[in-house]
Amino acid sequence: MTILLFGGRGYMGGQFLQIYPDAITPSVDIADAAGVEAVLDAEKPDLVINAAGKTGVPNVDWCEEHKLETFHSNVLGPLVLLEACQKRSIYWVHLSSGCVYSGDNGGRGFAETDEPNFTGSYYSRTKAACERSLRDFPMLILRLRMPFDGSPHPRNLLTKLAQFERVLDTENSITCLPDFLDAAEALIARRATGIYNIVNEGAISPYRIMELYREIVDPAHCCERLLPGSLSQVVRAGRSNCVLSTEKLKEEGISLRPVEEAVRSALMEYKKSAVGPKRVETLNKNCVQC
Ligand SMILES: NC(=O)c1ccc[n+]([C@@H]2O[C@H](COP(=O)([O-])OP(=O)(O)OC[C@H]3O[C@@H](n4cnc5c(N)ncnc54)[C@H](OP(=O)(O)O)[C@@H]3O)[C@@H](O)[C@H]2O)c1
Repeated sequence: MTILLFGGRGYMGGQFLQIYPDAITPSVDIADAAGVEAVLDAEKPDLVINAAGKTGVPNVDWCEEHKLETFHSNVLGPLVLLEACQKRSIYWVHLSSGCVYSGDNGGRGFAETDEPNFTGSYYSRTKAACERSLRDFPMLILRLRMPFDGSPHPRNLLTKLAQFERVLDTENSITCLPDFLDAAEALIARRATGIYNIVNEGAISPYRIMELYREIVDPAHCCERLLPGSLSQVVRAGRSNCVLSTEKLKEEGISLRPVEEAVRSALMEYKKSAVGPKRVETLNKNCVQC
């Protein structure tokens, strides 16, 4: 099977290379229609994965100041891929985010059919706008949230949270990467289409994750509780805090481990691989990156 992976040098692209190590990773701009069409015609892929996009460095605040670049990669690029793949009847997969919601939907969690209700950041608005355009076509959209695993990678949620002096105590859905890859591989193998929330069962607060970090990785670690009301004092763009429903995924016979079990297991692996990240003094030390 020939697989084309856009964004192969990024964080999520690297994850997909673990399950598809032979994927071709072109360096073409996904918003360059001629470039995308040329690579599709040259490689004739059976599957295209779009892991390209702007998430902002060091976090989504960047997108507020770089709206055109964010639009280019998060909206225009996927639309180019849509047209190019659709015209050639190529099955393709796009990475989206659960950060298009706020709240827990009255305890039910947000289903894939619920309209996005979080508009507090430009990043989230581009992800929602893109989904609205893609969802009418026969392709797969995978929504993940705040990915983590047992590696000391700087983009790992565990690494980021361990650097913050103040951490939010609001329940969220989050995604364990090895579980995500299993689910993605299963959905792709059966050529599933539509939107899927790919998050672990249940919800957990970043503060609770740091309590577990103290228990499992570093007993000396300490951080303060940050309440949602104080968040706007320390970040430029709003941050989505939300719980997603996994019912649709379960109807496919796929479920990710309960979230606390997955966090504990990642922290045990993390303990072996990390000496413990140094705290960084940055403007973003107080918050969770979307
Ligand atoms: N990581 C998360 O927390 C998270 C959570 C939910 C959803 N997602 C989604 O997952 C996708 C990938 O995110 P990521 O965390 O892997 O980001 P990343 O580490 O920044 O990787 C994105 C990759 O895409 C490339 N890229 C950006 N614009 C491009 C364009 N127009 N054409 C071709 N390549 C382009 C980037 O190259 P340059 O660096 O050269 O721009 C980079 O290599 C995004 O759609 C994001 O919204 C991520």
